[in-house]
Amino acid sequence: MKIHAQITGTGSYLPQRIMTNHELAQQIDTTDNWIVERTGIRQRHLAAKNETTSDLAHAAALRAIEAAGIDAADIDLIVVATTTPDLVFPSTACLLQQKLGIENRCPAFDVQAVCSGFVYALATADNFIRAGQARCVLVVGAETMSRITDWSDRSNCILWGDGAGAVILQASDTAGVIATHLHADGRYRDLLHVEAGVSSGLEKSSAVRMQGSSVFKIAVKTLDEIVDETLAANHLQKSDITWLVPHQANIRIIEATAKKLGMSMDRVVVTVDRHANTSAASIPLALDTAVRDGRIRAGDLLLMEAFGGGFTWGSALVKWMV
Ligand code: COA
Repeated sequence: MKIHAQITGTGSYLPQRIMTNHELAQQIDTTDNWIVERTGIRQRHLAAKNETTSDLAHAAALRAIEAAGIDAADIDLIVVATTTPDLVFPSTACLLQQKLGIENRCPAFDVQAVCSGFVYALATADNFIRAGQARCVLVVGAETMSRITDWSDRSNCILWGDGAGAVILQASDTAGVIATHLHADGRYRDLLHVEAGVSSGLEKSSAVRMQGSSVFKIAVKTLDEIVDETLAANHLQKSDITWLVPHQANIRIIEATAKKLGMSMDRVVVTVDRHANTSAASIPLALDTAVRDGRIRAGDLLLMEAFGGGFTWGSALVKWMV
């Protein structure tokens, strides 16, 4: 019999400290109105000085483990999507394994696809399960974007926040993850990037640089294409999708994708107002919110989609089973 993967539990975590737009407007030349109108963002959460990406991942993972009703020892693979790892190495996934006290020596690694990271990680985990190489995978998106934000650059510091989201993905006879579609195009690196890097020079700027309006236009067009591709490849109509669970970057990008799907905004999970763009953490944060508040129910068909630096983009089509 074919093996499939199902999400059996979700969890998320936002650091305690909230920075509102009003607070930001005391530090840079901006206003709450400007930020809300252009992005839909009202506030972001910031990790404490001693709080790292693996700490955020740990808190979200514990909640997902509890929701799935499993023991941490049952996990036989850990995949963490992050652009803001604690260290150059070991990977954040290895640090997380240690924090969870998992002694079964399961493989653990990071995936780097910036804001598309969660979809990439979910696709990776799904393929491990389908291939019979794992049966219970912890998939996490976790970021401390505040650490690579230039808080004096008003053109993009308004966008970012810290957080983590996690899912437990388990082997099953019936398909939960129906399909994933991934893409990348390395030609656009200069539109959205961080200059510093281990091999390029750690002394270079470690802040996100972005040409916002170009990124915006390409994101909308590319997400339109991934919606078309996902529906066509899986023989679905727009109306078959129950919930859009998009990457939470900007409400105007989300609205454009909803329009493309002919969906009213009450079928779209939106959390960007509360936590800004948390990169790889944003989809599992939104998913966990709508699962816990009872909006997402067994039998619903979810379309997750993301676009990010690279450029990378992708989608995951998930039938909700629990
Ligand atoms: N507050 C007030 N004014 C600001 C500002 C801020 N925080 N940031 C920029 N401005 C000003 C600019 O200086 C410019 O002024 P000018 O017309 O006098 O030159 C004006 O607002 C318009 O700037 P522009 O950059 O064209 O704004 P925009 O409408 O493109 O909005 C973004 C900027 C960043 C909100 C928007 O481009 C965006 O969301 N892009 C996508 C980013 C994204 O989602 N990236 C992650 C992808 S995963």
